[in-house]
Amino acid sequence: MTSDPDYDVVVVGAGVTGLTVANRLRAAGRDVIVLEARDRVGGRLLTETVDGVRLEVGGQWVSPDQTSLLALLGELGLETYSRYREGESVYIGRDGVRCTFEGEKFPVSERTADEMDRLTVVLDKLAAEMDPLEPWNHPDADRLDRISFAAWLAEQTDDAEARDNIGLYIGPAMLTKPAHSFSALSAVLMAASAGGFSHLVDADFILDRRVVGGLQRVPLALAGRLPAGTVRLGEAVTKVEWDADGATVFTGRGRYRGRNVVMAVPPTLVSRVQYVPALPPVQAQMRQHISFGLVIKLHITYEKPFWRELGLSGTAFSPYALVHEAYDNTNEDVAGETRGTLVGFVSDVKADGLLALDAAERRARVLESLAAYYGEQALKPVHYYESPWMADEWTVGAFGTSFDIGSLTRYGRHLRSDVGPLAFASSDIAGLGFQHVDGAIRMGEAVAARLLS
Ligand code: FDA
Repeated sequence: MTSDPDYDVVVVGAGVTGLTVANRLRAAGRDVIVLEARDRVGGRLLTETVDGVRLEVGGQWVSPDQTSLLALLGELGLETYSRYREGESVYIGRDGVRCTFEGEKFPVSERTADEMDRLTVVLDKLAAEMDPLEPWNHPDADRLDRISFAAWLAEQTDDAEARDNIGLYIGPAMLTKPAHSFSALSAVLMAASAGGFSHLVDADFILDRRVVGGLQRVPLALAGRLPAGTVRLGEAVTKVEWDADGATVFTGRGRYRGRNVVMAVPPTLVSRVQYVPALPPVQAQMRQHISFGLVIKLHITYEKPFWRELGLSGTAFSPYALVHEAYDNTNEDVAGETRGTLVGFVSDVKADGLLALDAAERRARVLESLAAYYGEQALKPVHYYESPWMADEWTVGAFGTSFDIGSLTRYGRHLRSDVGPLAFASSDIAGLGFQHVDGAIRMGEAVAARLLS
């Protein structure tokens, strides 16, 4: 084991959060080292070529409200392109009937549509009253945090299809947990962090653009701007000894002393590290009430984007289908690309069910679900790929983490508190951009600014 010289700051984790911290501190002349457990940078951002198809295995979309990410893309000179969205979308309703539609409003009965519109207004109003950095200060925080989002929806309307659809936007599609397992306050936080519930309803807004070459180019570029040797891969941090003057971080390969340490890892993984002395009780308790959601991101490639010939955009939704949402994810930035790729998502309890099957059965179920949206041609892909995040020990879920019922008001205000020389940051504890790359940048910049001041 080597003992390195002292650093101003030791950053744990080379996701976008940790690399943003390191870049900002380095630009201000601070001596920084980044320790990353994996053999690559990027954390939940990963662009891989599998069977000759380039896939964005983790995060990929950029929306107009994500101003920190858009600014960073500009700073790094990275370009974006628009997701393919010409043609009709598909919806499968509670009665199992498949309908096509244009625009963002699902083709539901007039009553259900009215209820969905009304609930959208209610949720937009609640989100507008919330500072996403301080959801516990919402005027109705205590009540909203005591009730599950599913129970809150049941209080609001007796229209089951309206409830299922509104629940879909935040449950399966965002927090990737069943709507009965997180609070209405967490649901409002999700909406407020994206600039309003209406943004989550509008796929053309929230899934607006992709980065040429893939979103992992952001952390790769951030790491590339640091001096050689600053980012150390394969250095899983196991122990942090801290006192008033600084902290020593231990990995299997060495120990690193910093005046400050930034734990730029998801809250669930903060607790996997041993702290000497132990973190204060509230810190340890708090993180037992935070958990990752579960979603399987599926990439299915066909010889050609056959749905386009059918007049379909590739966009499909149904709270009643195994694949609750799917989109055309063809790599428009790859010259000469003739194949077509769909991306689909299977979330929470449906993902549990899928994971209980063997690989061939999983594939068959997913393709059947896609065929219900796009027709028989969906049964014959040339490539099929399931994201591996749930079994990856340095993430263990997707997309991000959230509190259980009642815990956002009980513990939330401690999320971003420093403990002696230790600071904590990740997209999971962001306000604006919560659970998104934009939030990772905001958290990284905020921690860097605090350390510099
Ligand atoms: P992140 O988890 O990326 O980084 C933490 C790093 O710490 C990791 O590299 C990990 O290996 C490392 N680490 C953990 N423990 C360690 C230890 N003990 N020692 C050393 N290193 C350790 N966002 C978005 O904006 N648009 C999108 O379309 C999507 N879609 C999406 C799809 C999927 C499938 C996923 C999984 C996620 C998304 N996201 C997204 C979310 C987005 O990817 C995510 O919010 C950020 O990338 C998180 O960045 P962080 O740096 O905060 O954490």
